[in-house]
Amino acid sequence: MAFKQLVFSGVQPTGNLHLGNYLGAIVKFVELQKHFECIYCVVDLHAITTWQDPEELPKAIREVTAAFIACGIDPKKHIVFNQSQVAEHAELAWVFNCVARMGWLNRMTQFKEKAGKDRENVSVGLFAYPTLMAADILVYRATHVPVGEDQKQHLELSRDIAQKFNNDYSASIAKHGFGDAFFPQPEPLIQGPATRVMSLRDGSKKMSKSDASDYSRINLTDDADTIAQKIRKAKTDPEPLPSEEKGLETRPEADNLVGIYAALKDTTKADVLREFGGAQFSTFKSSLVDLSVAKLGPIGGEMKRLVADPAYIDAVLADGSNRAREIAAKTMLSVKDIIGLVRR
Ligand code: TYM
Repeated sequence: MAFKQLVFSGVQPTGNLHLGNYLGAIVKFVELQKHFECIYCVVDLHAITTWQDPEELPKAIREVTAAFIACGIDPKKHIVFNQSQVAEHAELAWVFNCVARMGWLNRMTQFKEKAGKDRENVSVGLFAYPTLMAADILVYRATHVPVGEDQKQHLELSRDIAQKFNNDYSASIAKHGFGDAFFPQPEPLIQGPATRVMSLRDGSKKMSKSDASDYSRINLTDDADTIAQKIRKAKTDPEPLPSEEKGLETRPEADNLVGIYAALKDTTKADVLREFGGAQFSTFKSSLVDLSVAKLGPIGGEMKRLVADPAYIDAVLADGSNRAREIAAKTMLSVKDIIGLVRR
């Protein structure tokens, strides 16, 4: 069966949005608007899989929404909303909890990393997190999902869940007029030179909202001086930059900074090395500061302006939620019919 092309993605409202979120995901969200209908979600139900301060959570939800808009997402042409306002996400997640297998979830590396040695003490929600993620995507029967490299395994699980649902209920799916598949196989879109932006302090660690050191990441709200300081302090090695990509293979910090530069400039690492091959890091870092400030400065400024007007942000989320709910409710009614749940 052919599915209507639709883009869905989500960002958690936890901590500071950083350059990894921007280059790995949000830049792609903006680009995809030109060619697809898009739904972008602030995944607040995912955020509460670890405890969130009720005083801070609404601010974080509004800040991610502001970031979407400040980066260039158009909430009128596309849909921007927060997950908890569309109950069908949680409802379909329950169905998927009954479709997904324990063994599948046990293999999720992100859960293993986050739970660590404290496995017995983390929330059930943290374990079931990927089934909610599958529900986010599939409640809209979305076909394309732009994400960073770290979400690849979750996307594969979403595909497995879609397939198992289609198989388990194949006769009923056909009987209700949906042909041989009710859910599409959502395709991950993981492309470009910055699908995994690394910490500025340690090239072997992902740039992350939860890193204790603020110097490990560039936040979207950092001012020009802070950005400059963080880049100047970023870990490097003593060699000049190589002229070819092969020369980056054993130099994770250099590779990371070149990838960031390439992504910010919308070009390739090879192109960046053609320009900077043989240069010292001090020269390259100065250019990287200028480029970063030019790209991120206006976004940070616009975010600050937007979060100062929470009524506007809340109106965007209410409108987006209403439009999202219409699509999600329709999917849920069909899911109930397919499963055999009696409904009004
Ligand atoms: P989250 O909130 O951790 O991150 C949001 C997006 O940013 C990407 N990302 C990165 N990309 C490159 N380098 C990095 N260092 C980096 N850090 C984060 C993430 O890959 C992601 O695309 N589970 C998701 C949110 C989610 C979702 C969904 C995504 C919930 N439901 C449905 C897609 C579809 C998450 O925690 O992302």
